[in-house]
Amino acid sequence: MTAQPSGTTSAGVARVAHRAVGSAEAEAANRASWDADADDYHAEHGDFLGDADFVWCPEGLTEQAARLLEDVDGTDVLEIGCGSAPCARWLLTRGARVVGVDLSEGMLTHGVAANARTGLHPALLRANAERLPLADSGFDVACSAFGAVPFVPSLDAVFGEVHRVLRPGGRWVFAVTHPMRWIFPDDPGPAGLTVTQSYFDRTPYVEVDDADSASYVEYHRTLGDYIRALRAAGFTLDDLIEPEWPDGHTRVWGQWSPLRGKLFPGTAIFRCRRD
Ligand SMILES: C[S@@+](CC[C@H](N)C(=O)[O-])C[C@H]1O[C@@H](n2cnc3c(N)ncnc32)[C@H](O)[C@@H]1O
Repeated sequence: MTAQPSGTTSAGVARVAHRAVGSAEAEAANRASWDADADDYHAEHGDFLGDADFVWCPEGLTEQAARLLEDVDGTDVLEIGCGSAPCARWLLTRGARVVGVDLSEGMLTHGVAANARTGLHPALLRANAERLPLADSGFDVACSAFGAVPFVPSLDAVFGEVHRVLRPGGRWVFAVTHPMRWIFPDDPGPAGLTVTQSYFDRTPYVEVDDADSASYVEYHRTLGDYIRALRAAGFTLDDLIEPEWPDGHTRVWGQWSPLRGKLFPGTAIFRCRRD
């Protein structure tokens, strides 16, 4: 049931487990996993994501079309889990001052190369979104396209940090795998249409190595869990966008496919405002 749009790396994976995983184990596992997967991720998805484009999700919705962040000209924007930061570079072209944060040095190394290719240089910072090394109230907008939120055990930690670094009234917009996908196997074909596990089972998805240590971790939350955590952190939810699969879009990305996308949502984008 992985939310990782790339599909996970098979490096070092012995088997899939379902068990509790705390913050330190998840951080170590996911950092190593994204470092190991960074080259493959960009070989597979780099063309689709672009060097300086803001693609929200495998359905192909772009910020240029959706305008979920509104006018960013002259604003301070933080991208959480920026990967190689194509969204951050696009935001620069729209007149924003941008900082991109990511856990993985491997992903950020691709970002540094893309900065050099494009001449667009958002500040890139290696950090865990649970502990942002940034001052209070420094940003007008925070955004994330499948970065960090699915990979941390506590929504409260990330939402609390985003709230802290945003100015009052600031926007927080983030995309995650739609929670209803959790109930299906990670299969883009017909096997991915049959329910195999409970929507209400929040036990994390964990890949473990031969020593039973986590090598990749992902967390599931229901829609209600997200809404309660946002309210508790001090955000108002303005909209929940469930991008529809566009006609003529044939690209398969991991478990995202035209077959499934025509039947049920694959992505949920929460559009919120800091109180
Ligand atoms: C699916 S990729 C998305 C990257 C980028 N937004 C994109 O669209 O290509 C998820 C990213 O989240 C990052 N990430 C995972 N856990 C994180 C954490 N705790 N803090 C910051 N970034 C994290 C990973 O390193 C990875 O680059």
